[in-house]
This record gives sequence, C-alpha cells and structure tokens, in this order.
Amino acid sequence: SALHPLICALPKVEQHIHLEGALEPDLLFSLAAKHGIKLLADDAAFTSEQALRDRYLRFTSLDDFLGYYYIGMSVLRESVDFCELAWRYFQRAAKDGVRHAEVFFDPQAHLSRGIDYNTMLQGFVDAKKRAEDELHMSVNIIACFLRHLPVADSLAVFDNADVQASFRDGRVVGIGLDSSENDFPPVMFKEIYDKARDLNVRRTAHAGEEGPAQNIASALDNLGCQRIDHGLRLAEDPVLMKRVADEGFLLTLCPVSNILLRCVPSMKEVPIRKFLDAGVKFSLNSDDPAYFGAYILDTYCAVQEAHNLSVKDWETICTNGIQGSWCSDERKNELM
Ligand code: ADE
Ligand code: ZN
Repeated sequence: SALHPLICALPKVEQHIHLEGALEPDLLFSLAAKHGIKLLADDAAFTSEQALRDRYLRFTSLDDFLGYYYIGMSVLRESVDFCELAWRYFQRAAKDGVRHAEVFFDPQAHLSRGIDYNTMLQGFVDAKKRAEDELHMSVNIIACFLRHLPVADSLAVFDNADVQASFRDGRVVGIGLDSSENDFPPVMFKEIYDKARDLNVRRTAHAGEEGPAQNIASALDNLGCQRIDHGLRLAEDPVLMKRVADEGFLLTLCPVSNILLRCVPSMKEVPIRKFLDAGVKFSLNSDDPAYFGAYILDTYCAVQEAHNLSVKDWETICTNGIQGSWCSDERKNELM
C-alpha cells in the first residue's frame, strides 16, 4: 500500500494483548528445558518449534487455541520468566511503533499451578519499568479473570490481599474477563465488577468474540465495563451499535485473531468500514501475537490490505485508541 510508510509511523497504542499470548515457541521450549518440564508427549505439535508453529496455523476455535495457550504458559515459573516474556513483547511492540501498551495477564492460570501472585506480577512490573526507561513506552497492567473457572475462584482472587494491594498502588489498573465466552455470560461476574467499580479499578471484558452481541450489552449494563474487548459481533445488532457509538465506548478489535479462531471468514468480513461509518470507536490489536503470527504492525498492514483505508481513517483509529486509553490526559497529549 502507498500508505505503508504512514502506517509504520503512526503513534500506536495496544490495548488488547495477553502477555501469555506473546510466548513465542523458542522461549516456550527454552523455558521448558530450563525447568525440566515435559510438554504433552502425546501431542506431535510439541516435538519442535516448527511443528508447534504449524499447529498454530490450524486452530479450529477459541477453545482449540486456549488448550495450547494454557499448556504453553505452564513453562512460566519464576519472576525472571515472566519478565523475559513481557520484555520481549515490549521490545517488539516498540519496533512496531507502539508507544503505550495496556497488557493483560491471567493470574488464575498461574495461581492454579502454584505460582505466587507477587512472583508473576513482579516479573511483569520489572519489564514494564524497563520498557518505560529504555523504550520510552508507557504501560498499564490489567488482570483478567477466567470465565471457565468457578466464579467463587475469581472472587477469592479478587479479594486476595496481594491482589488488592496491587490495585491500591496502581501496579494493576484494571480488570478484564477472558477465556471461553460461550456458556459463561458476563452477568455471572457482576459481583466482582461491582467491587472493582467501588475501588475505582478500571473495567473491561471480552464480549462478542465467539458469543453474541447480547454479551456486549451485558458487559456494559451488568458489569459497568468502560470498554469492550473484541466486540466483533456488535455489527449484528444495529440498535446496540448505535448505542455504543452514541455513548463512545471503545472496542479493542483483534482482526487477525478473529480470522485464525474462525470467528469471521476473512479480513474483508471484519466490519471495519461499518464501524467507521457508524462512528463506533475501535483500536486494532494483536491479542495473542505469538499464537496468531502477527504483531501490531502486521495487523495494521493486513487491515489496510483488505480495507484500503484513507489517511483520515487511520487518524481516526489512532486518535480513538489514544483517547480510549487508561492513561492521564497529559500522557494522551504526548501520544497524539
Ligand atoms: N485469552 C487469550 N486470548 C483470548 C481470546 N482471544 N479470547 C478469550 N480469552 C483469551
Ligand atoms: Zn483477548
């Protein structure tokens, strides 16, 4: 595209990236070796980096992906492992022009393996500090709850003293909700989101990825979400789409993820034009870049290839992303 230089130079924000989803096969295998962890011996995908990458090109659904995602992250054990993972992501993101990143992690996926909350969070905080000092990025950390686990488990984690301390001192600025969407509607997690609101903790949730547009309305109405992760299926509900546009909620779209997980047949069917025309604000994000083979610049380029956006469209996308970020107005002005 003639716009390629402009797209490279755009000041980017990334707001939907699971740090565990940035675990590239080379780091996965080297951490497995370091800790003497034997990855699923009966799955040929784990025989080599190439076999694993090939398997990642054949995901059949969100749950198929999640199986690999939860196994992969089991190689993360010490603080330095979490730090290395996040630092590699920040370096790559900075190269792609990301100046502000709001990154997810899944505490329960590590707590359930006996990893201490402060062990994982310290690694991420160390990497954040380094990204801020050396790459001049700003970084916010968001803790996500896993919707496929019992709600009581999420509640206990939310109430845990270490987790509460991380909200109070701002190491963690917000909460999210991820994992399997079907069968786990947002309203199940209302109690946690009510508590988060009382503590002034920011709130987002995955909704309308595999599940229906109704989950987007529920995330807004029942959970008091301040933005929506994915929101792909908003396009199926014109009335809700008008409401989201009018009220200015931001969607953190992840188009490459949606294609790889078969939520949409191809990039052309991602309703980018429809959202732009309807005034629905969205940012473009990588979701799980190591699993979907695309970081943020790859994602922007793939969108441009399929949708041939104008300079003005790109300015709209980047401005909306910056304005929808959970940083200070002062920092937003620096990013503009
Ligand atoms: N966890 C990591 N990536 C996810 C996604 N795309 N949807 C739900 N949960 C996730
Ligand atoms: Zn996600």
